[in-house]
Parts: sequence; structure tokens; C-alpha cells
Amino acid sequence: MAISKKAGKKTAPKSGGATKVAKADWKEGFKKKQTGVSDMTLLTTIDENSINDNLKKRWNVGEIYTYIGGVLISVNPFKDLGIYTDETLQKYKGKNRLEVPPHVFSIAESAYYNMNAYHENQCVIISGESGAGKTEAAKRIMQYIAAVSGGEDGSIQEIKEMVLATNPLLESFGCAKTLRNNNSSRHGKYLEIMFNTHGEPIGAQITNYLLEKGRVVGQLENERNFHIFYQFTKAASDEQREQFGLQGPDAYTYTSRSKCLDVQDINDSNDYADTLNAMRIIGLSNEEQNEIFRMIAVILWLGNVEFQEMDDGNSAIADTGVTDFVAYLIEVDSAMVQKVLTSKVVETQRGGRRGSVYDVPLNPAQATAGRDALAKAIYNNLFEWIVARINVSMKARGASTQVIGILDIFGFEIFEDNSFEQLCINYVNEKLQQIFIELTLKTEQEEYVREQIKWTPIKYFNNKIVCDLIEERKPPGIFAALNDACATAHADPAAADNSFVQRTAMLSSNVHFEARGSQFLVRHYAGDVMYNIVGMTDKNKDALVKDLFDLVGSSGNQFLQTLFSDRPDPSSKKRPPTAGDRIKASAGALVDNLMKAQPSYIRTIKPNQNRSATEYDIKAILHQIKYLGLQENIRVRRAGFAYRNTFEKMVERFYLLSPSTSYAGEYTWQGDAKSGCEQILKDTGIAKDEWQMGVTKAFIKNPETLFALETMRDRYWHNMAARIQRAWRNYWRYKNECARRIQRFWKNNKEALEYAKVRDYGHQILAGRKERRRYSLLSYRRFLGDYLDVNGKNIVGSDLRSACGLGTEQATFSSKVQILVPRFARSSIVSPRFLVVTAKAVYIAATSQKDGQIQTSLERKIPLVTIKSISMSNLRDDWLALNCNASEEGDPILHCCFKTELTANLLTLTQASISVLIGPSIEYAKKKDKKAQIQFVRDETITKDDVYKSHVVHVPSGEPPSSTSRPAARRKPGIVRPITQGKLLRAGGPSDKGKTSRPKPAAQPLPGKSEQFAAVRPTPVAPPKSAPAPPTRNSVPPPPPPPPKEPEAELYKAKFAFEGQEGEISLKKDDTVELVEKDDNGWWLVRKDGQEGWAPNNYLEFVPPKPKAAPAVRSPPPRPPPPPSVPLAVVAAPIPASASKPTVSAMSVKSLAADVSAKPVAVFPGLAPSNGSAAPWKKPPAASANGSSSSTPASSRPSSSLGVKPPPPVATKPKPAPPPVASKPSSGKPPPKPPIPTASRPGAGAAPPKISKLSAPAGQMDLAAALAKRAQKIANE
Ligand SMILES: Nc1ncnc2c1ncn2[C@@H]1O[C@H](COP(=O)(O)OP(=O)(O)OP(=O)(O)O)[C@@H](O)[C@H]1O
Ligand SMILES: [Mg+2]
Repeated sequence: MAISKKAGKKTAPKSGGATKVAKADWKEGFKKKQTGVSDMTLLTTIDENSINDNLKKRWNVGEIYTYIGGVLISVNPFKDLGIYTDETLQKYKGKNRLEVPPHVFSIAESAYYNMNAYHENQCVIISGESGAGKTEAAKRIMQYIAAVSGGEDGSIQEIKEMVLATNPLLESFGCAKTLRNNNSSRHGKYLEIMFNTHGEPIGAQITNYLLEKGRVVGQLENERNFHIFYQFTKAASDEQREQFGLQGPDAYTYTSRSKCLDVQDINDSNDYADTLNAMRIIGLSNEEQNEIFRMIAVILWLGNVEFQEMDDGNSAIADTGVTDFVAYLIEVDSAMVQKVLTSKVVETQRGGRRGSVYDVPLNPAQATAGRDALAKAIYNNLFEWIVARINVSMKARGASTQVIGILDIFGFEIFEDNSFEQLCINYVNEKLQQIFIELTLKTEQEEYVREQIKWTPIKYFNNKIVCDLIEERKPPGIFAALNDACATAHADPAAADNSFVQRTAMLSSNVHFEARGSQFLVRHYAGDVMYNIVGMTDKNKDALVKDLFDLVGSSGNQFLQTLFSDRPDPSSKKRPPTAGDRIKASAGALVDNLMKAQPSYIRTIKPNQNRSATEYDIKAILHQIKYLGLQENIRVRRAGFAYRNTFEKMVERFYLLSPSTSYAGEYTWQGDAKSGCEQILKDTGIAKDEWQMGVTKAFIKNPETLFALETMRDRYWHNMAARIQRAWRNYWRYKNECARRIQRFWKNNKEALEYAKVRDYGHQILAGRKERRRYSLLSYRRFLGDYLDVNGKNIVGSDLRSACGLGTEQATFSSKVQILVPRFARSSIVSPRFLVVTAKAVYIAATSQKDGQIQTSLERKIPLVTIKSISMSNLRDDWLALNCNASEEGDPILHCCFKTELTANLLTLTQASISVLIGPSIEYAKKKDKKAQIQFVRDETITKDDVYKSHVVHVPSGEPPSSTSRPAARRKPGIVRPITQGKLLRAGGPSDKGKTSRPKPAAQPLPGKSEQFAAVRPTPVAPPKSAPAPPTRNSVPPPPPPPPKEPEAELYKAKFAFEGQEGEISLKKDDTVELVEKDDNGWWLVRKDGQEGWAPNNYLEFVPPKPKAAPAVRSPPPRPPPPPSVPLAVVAAPIPASASKPTVSAMSVKSLAADVSAKPVAVFPGLAPSNGSAAPWKKPPAASANGSSSSTPASSRPSSSLGVKPPPPVATKPKPAPPPVASKPSSGKPPPKPPIPTASRPGAGAAPPKISKLSAPAGQMDLAAALAKRAQKIANE
């Protein structure tokens, strides 16, 4: 296909080149321009002419359907417009009438939708004159409902097929060609389709109204008998022909007298096949079919019985061969047939008692009437039997909840000669018009008054007066007068007719009636009709003479007997119901039935009397517009409300749309239905002038509003599903983000914690005995140890390594220092050196210039084992002496800005076997046996750190010895990103109890429903329990396997005795405890004998699990047994990573499985930025461990080049101490660990440290200090 550039304009694709895809054109979607208005409530002028103009314009372009609000006007096109295809049908499926052009499918859709949605019976009332298209419309409605009502079940399909099959079957037996319509319905039919709760048809029922049985025995010229007679005579099988002596239609009087055997557009043979097929679908057995056709044959042959007048005026059978054949067909004695057809039995009555019985011969006219009466009775009863038989087949299979009724009745008729049949037909049409008026005009307006709705009344013609004229008993109407006439002169039809003529005078008081001798005129809503009285009373009496009943009763044919099974009791005094009585009763029942359902109207219009597809007879149409009351219909519709329903129904339907009336699909409104309904309408934002609240009902002005509500309702579940999905996704994002932040925090801080241990150990060593430099107290910094990068590839570091001859030894500390160099007879001078510490020795190297080249050479190596103590002053200076075993060189006096770290390093390496001496002076061996002292003097004039001169160091005052390092700087709160921005999560996360969600309102029973029903209603339809569906892709996944057994708790052994205070647990040495929770601050929550409490983690030693346990998460390796309170991390690089690894993995696992309801924290104030930037103390990742510094990002560690001072820790303004990170939850657990005071230095070796009582800043957690305090306490005791 050529790809067009613009819709509609086709352009050939360029040859050779790639075809260019046409750009979508918005005009493509533009609706076909409509002709006139599709809803005549939109007409600018409302009068019959403008309605006619609009219908005409539309009809001329094939738009045969037009609305007046919800009423469909259909003008017969008399041609196939191709608008009932399955494709068209699908376009109407699930659409409201505003979304699609007017169509009979739309009426069917709305009836079907309303039935399912509102659980109300529906009926479609189709009216219009003969040939206007009622039967066609009814068939289209059935077609639509069968197509959309689903149900793959075999029996449902069967019902659908049967419903559709009733059309050809009943048309064959109940329709005939008339002057007005080639397929005119000669009976009325109300088909009710019954549906189950799923909206699937489970059965149907047909009510038949008034078959025009007179047609069996005679028709107007150019009309035909019922179709079946022609189908049967033309297309019967040879066997049937043989059996029933069948010939063509021309052979029978009943089919040939009107001289119309064939009809254009009707193929009787094909239709016969359809009829047989329909019989088969409906389930008529071959025997039943055979009996039906036997009856048809009987009627045909009866019609051929002719009477000749004898000399005495009596009749005789002209050809007894015919009566013999009739007798053969009905299985009776031939003589009896002849007798019954030519005479009648008369019984005299005297004073109410039975008298003599006479055989009265009949004249040919009477005999013919008797013959015809028999034929009509057989056909009428046959037709009723067929309808009853159809109903048996379509009997509801299961409980039916709702019904859709489709009324297709004979149209209003005016002939030249109108008789009793036309009176009945037109009466039923009057009744239908009455319903229409009742519901659309009268009741509607009355309802506005009753419901106190603001309303301007509209005038209309109410045809009740005509209905009363025909059906009333008092004063007697036409039917009552006919009955009276029949009763008074029952034996003589002519006398009865005369009696009726006299009675018509009494009816003349009704302005819609005019008596005109042997005729009378009725002014029907649809026009004036002149009725001929002759024969009317007889038709009304509609009784077979007793002889005919006797004939049938003596028949050997069981089927015929069945047809006449309800023979009136001859001994009954009660007058049998007349035809007038019956039609009145059935019309009344029909009206009652229709009034119980929600009606939809189709008003059909016949554009001409010639079945022309082009002729638009304005006069005829104006007449129909007038009598159908379309003008009033538009006026009422324009001023009125398109929809109304009781508050209860409204609430039931739409309560989901308001948060005030529903919660999670439950009805929650506590007020009455009216207030609930009003609330819904307010909450849905429907404009106030679009609805009004009546006394018991809510009124909606325009259908658009109702459709909008319906659309909102349709979307409700969809929206809810989307909301749940959104909330779930938000929740997962939130959970993942929390886990990510916890992991990131842990990653950022695990090293910091190790450094904190070094720092705290430093505090512990000094134990409040030495004044502190201000910078030493700034939060954390990286205690890198190897500041000169001796372990790395740095040139200076490597030079130093080779100068010291370290070989494979790893430096645990290296730094530039100053050393005190003694001079002979002069005071010592301060000289720069390099200091390197390994696990074996302290190396002091110096640089010198030799031959213009700078050389580094080892000046002194001091094995660690020779160091007895380290002496420091109690002031803030950086001097220290390494007191060694006696040697010629004496003790080195060092000036090192990392003195505390150096000391901590040496103590760690020597398992704290070196003592730390702190006092106002340093004593040291100047030479082997020469002791010397350096005094330390507080001197505030010194601007630098300190000044050495002649054994005296001048130092300005430092921070008090009790000072502890400041807490980490608090992060600016503004930088913290919210964990989730999802609308559905509270600002504080799902567990933020502060902002509680809207309380869940209690579910209420729906108004008008029992509580039980209300509770059951929202429950989705449960699949049958017996057959669980196999899991499909979309089905709910099977339940997850049960959670794995909780991993066995980690066990720890107490290395030392520990006496716990409040919230802590007391331990004896070697007590085994279960780990409950690890805290980063050095306190762990443990359980012993079912009791929980906090214990210092360095008092605990991990007990490896037994091998069979094979835990999923690797347990941390057992620690080497260090001396108490010596953190492993003091030893440089590898230790923090390896030491923290198991904890990290454990932590990660725990984080991912974290309590989802946990309160999101404002991510770790004061510590690493949550966006993942490196923390200032962050250790270079494994660089120092593998000795590779080149791969280390420049920013990740301070430069280690010689002479460059390592960067101080990030200086942030100290702030009030933040709450401890991850403080212990209080509920259900022991009280939180008490704040830990700053520790004093523990003594060297095993000696208990001397601890001074110091205060710690609130919230500061310092395990070492706590331990020191405890040790002091124990010591004091
Ligand atoms: N929508 C339509 N499209 C095409 N042709 C139609 C349509 N409606 C009716 N007709 C034609 O008009 C004819 C008469 O229609 P139909 O039998 O439905 O009239 P009716 O109102 O039932 O008349 P009656 O009261 O005599 O039974 C149909 O046989 C058909 O040929
Ligand atoms: Mg019809």
C-alpha cells in the first residue's frame, strides 16, 4: 500500500529510496461530520418540522438512528446499510451512548450494562407502525446481547442459539406478507432473556400476544397467509408430500385465494430450511415436527373442503375425497367430519334446565364459517403450542437474577376495512403508548413533583382516555359492550352485532369515539380508525361450537388432542372469556411486567408505504412524529433529568468514588444514604447544577454526568491497583535506600571506628595525666602510623627502608622527629631525624650531605625489648624519652608530634610491656651511667608548640589533661536527602508514628442491604475450591518456602570478670554468653541464662561454632589473644579491614533484612556524608596492606612524602554532642548503656591503671574510658 504523506492523500513512494513513514495526522482521528443532530434534545427549535428535517437529513445519508435523550428513533432505511456486522457490533461493546453514534446496538449495550451494573430488570419497548422496523430492531438487540454476554459454557451457548433461532421459527408461523410489510408480525411477542449473576444468558421465555388467526382462512388481495404455509407447500420433502398429500400453494384455497403466492425478497424454500434448522436448534423432535406439519396439512386440506347448497338450502360436502383425507390426517371417521362440518347440535334450554338436543343442518355460509373456525382454532392452538414448546426448551438453567425483555408487537394498523383484529392490535399499541407516556412524560413529571425537584411542567396528550374507552368496565368500554352484546344474543351473530350497534351510542360520550351505524370510529393516539362492526361479536366470542370440540376429542391423533386440551367445561355456568377479555388481560399483564423493569425505548418510523429506500414521505412522517409524541418527549427530556435513582442505589454504585464513604473498597459512611449520596456527588466534583437531591432519589441532569461517574468507577480499581503498586515500589525503594545508607555508613565508618580505637587507646595511655594539644582533640583523624610511607613505594620511604636495612620488616610507625643531640660541654641541640618503628626495633635515621649529595643513613637502632619505658611531661609539649637499657648512646629524647600514637604503637608492639611515665620532668640516661633531667616549664609567652633550651622546655598551656577528643562534626542537616519522595510514604518513612495515617474507618453495611450482604459483597468471586488452577504465569506465585531457621547465635566467652551496673550484665571469667547485638561503641548486648545486658566487647572472646554448624555467614575469625584494652587497629594498614570484615558482612546482611518499619534516621549526623563522599578519616582501600600506593586515589590518603605533615583531621566547629549513633532502643531491652566517662591511662603490663575521675561529654561513647573508670572504681573499693 502506498504510504501517504497526509491522510487521505496518497503519494507514491520514491522509487529506490527508503519509504518515508507518513506522519500521523490529527485529522485522521476527526470524527465523520455528523448530519443534523444525533440527539434531538440539541435541536435549536423544537417543533415537528425541525424534528422531521433532522430525521430527513440523516435518513438521506443513511443515518437512520437518532436519539431523544435515551430514546432511540429509528427510521426504516428499506435497504441493507451494512451496519449490523460483527465489526460494528464490537465498536459498541462497553461504550456508553455518547461515545458512539446512535445505534440500536447502543440501546442493547446500555440495557445489558444497566442490568449488570444496577441489578435491575430491563426491557426494550419497540413501537411503531407496521413495517417500521420493530422486528428488525428486536433481532438486532438479540444479536447484540448474544454476542456480548459471554459464557463459554455449552448450555449458555445453547441458550443463545435458541434465542436467535426463535426468530426464524416464530416469523415462519407468526409473520405474513401484508400490504404494509412483507414480513409483518401477526402476533405480539415479549421475549425475556434471563441472566445469571455473571450476565450470562441461562434461559428465555416468550409470551405470545394475540395471533391474527383470521389470516389462516383468508387474506386481503395481495397479502398472504402465514409464511409457513408457503414454505411447506413449496419446499416439503417428497416423503412429506406423500404423507400429507401435499401439493403446491396454488392447490389450496387458504394460500391461493388472495392471489399472492410469491413475495419479492422472500425465498420460501430457503426459509423452510431455516425453519427446520430452527426447530432442530430448539430441540423439536422429528415426531413433533411431523405433527406440526400434519396440522398445517390438515388446515390446508380443510380450506379445500367446499360446500354446495342443496335444494333445501342446507349444505353438502362438494368433494368427500377432501373430507376423507382430512379425516385420515386427523385420524377420525370420515363421516363424522362430514357431519360436523355440515350440521350443528343445538340444545334447548328451559328455565335453566337442559332441554332437547337437535341436529341443525347448516347452510353453506354457516358451514364455511364452521370449517374456518376449526382451521383457525387448530392453527392458533398450534402456534401457542410451539411457543410453549420453545419455552420448555429455553427454560432457565439455574437461578436467574435479572431479565432483559424485548417487546416486539404488531404495529398500529389502519386498513380500509378494520375489524376486531385491528381493534385488538391498536388497543395493545395504545397500551404501549400509555406506558411510554406514563414513564417518559407523566410519571417523570409526577416524580419531580413528588421528589420536590424544581421543575416546569410540560403539556402532553395522555392517551389514557382512549385506553379507557376500549377497556373500561364502568362505564362500559368497547370490549365490555361487545361482551354484553355477545351475552344477550349469543346464538345469533347478526343479532349480537346489532345489539352492539345499539350499545355504541352509550360510548359516544367519549370524545375519542363516534358511532356511525354499522361502523364506529376511534380516535387513536396514532390516528382515526373506522371499525366495521359486522362479525365483531362473533370474533369476540371466539368459541368453537361443541361439535368441533367433539370432533377433535374423538381424534386418534394425540397431538391434536393436546392442542385442544383445555376445552371449556360445557356444564360451567361461567361465561368463557372472550377474545376481548383475553387481550385485555394479557395487555394488562404485559404492562405490569414492563413497569417492573427499567425501560429503553425504540420508536420506529416508516418513511413511506412503498418500501422504498429513497422516498421520504414527509406527510406520513410528520404524522408519526406527532402521534409518537416526539416533540413532547424532547421538551420533557430537555427540561428534565436524564437519570435518577434511589439514594441507596446511588450509594451502592458510587460509594467507592469518595474517600468519605469508602476505605479500601469498604463502605464506611456512617450517615444515612441521602447524606452519603450527596457527599459522593460533592466529592466527585460534579457541578452543583448537574444534580439535585430529591426526597428519596438523586437526580442527575445530563447523561454525560452519569457516564463520568461510571468512568470514575471503572477506573477506581485500576487506580487502586496502580496506587498499591506505587506504594510497594516506594516501599522497596525506601527499604533499599535505607539498606544502602546503612551499608555506606558502615563502609565509611568501619575504618573510622578502628581509628577511634587507636585514639581512645591514646587517651587511655595518657590517662588524663598530660595536657593535650588542641589539634590532637579534634574529632578523629587517620592514625596512619607509617606517615613516611616506608612500607610503600615512595622514594623517600624506600630510601629510609634501605637506610635502616629493614628488609622485609614492615614499619608500623614512621615519622619525622626532632632529636636532642648532646654536645660536649655544651647544651644539646635539636636536630631532625627520621623515626621508623617495626615489630622489632625503633630506627633513627638522619640525612647528611656528603659530596654535595643528601644521604640518609641509619643512626641508631633500638630493639624494642631494650625499651623499658617512655617518659613524657605532663604539659602539652611533644617531647618524649625512650628509656632503654643502659647503653653508651644513652636514651633518645625525641620531639614527635605523633608522640601519643608512637607510644600507643610501641605499647601495642610490646604487648604493653613498656611503661609510660608522665611527670613534670623527664629523666633519662644521657650516657651509660649519666642520668639527666629535662624540666618542663609552663610559659605562656611561647607562641610555638614548645622551645627547648638547656634542659628546660618552655611550653604554653595546653588543653586540660582530662580533655577527650571532640565528637565528629555533625553533618549539615540540609545535605541529607530524604530517603524517599514517594507521595504515599510519610515524610518520616513508613514507621513514622508521629504522623499517623488516617484512621481506618469501620466498614458499614450498604444502605438497603443486610449486614451480611454488605460484608459479602466486596469479596471477589472465589474460584471453585475443588479444582485449583494450575499455576500460570500471571497467577499468584506459590507461597515462599518457610524462612530458614534462625542462625545460631554467636557465642562469646568472658575473658575477664566484669561487674555490670544498671543495664549491664555481670560476667565471671569464662562465662559463655550469646551475642544479641553488636554496637559500634564497644558495648555489645549479650544474653546469659536468659538475661540480657550490655558488656564491653573487649572482655569477650569469640567462641568459634562447632564445625557441623556450617553457618551461611562467615563468622569472624577468632581474635589473637591481645592484652586487655589493646585495640588491634593500632597496628597499621591491614588490621582495620580484616578486623572489621566479618562484622561488615554480618552488618550488611542484617541491614538488608532490616526491620522495614524501622524509623529512617537523618543519616548519621556528623559522620560521613550520605552521598558516599569519602570520610576524612577514611583509610586508603587496602593500599597499605598490599604495599601499593600507586593505585590509591590521590585524595584517599594524605601525602606521605618526607617533610610533609599529614593533614590534620577535618576541623569542624565543635557542636553540641549529637545523640549517639544507633542508640539502643529502649523498649523491651535493658536500659541503654550509661554515658562513658573519659578514661585514665591503664598501667603498663598487668598493673592496674591509675585512673583519675574525669567527666565525659554527654553522649560520648568511649569504651576505654569506661573500662578505666570501672577499673578505678574497683581499685578504690
Ligand atoms: N434497520 C433496517 N435496515 C434495513 N432494512 C430494514 C431495517 N428495519 C426494517 N427493515 C426492512 O423493513 C421491513 C419491515 O421491518 P419489520 O418487519 O421489522 O417491521 P415491523 O415494524 O416489525 O412491522 P410489523 O408491525 O408489521 O411487524 C423488514 O423486513 C426489512 O426489509
Ligand atoms: Mg414485526
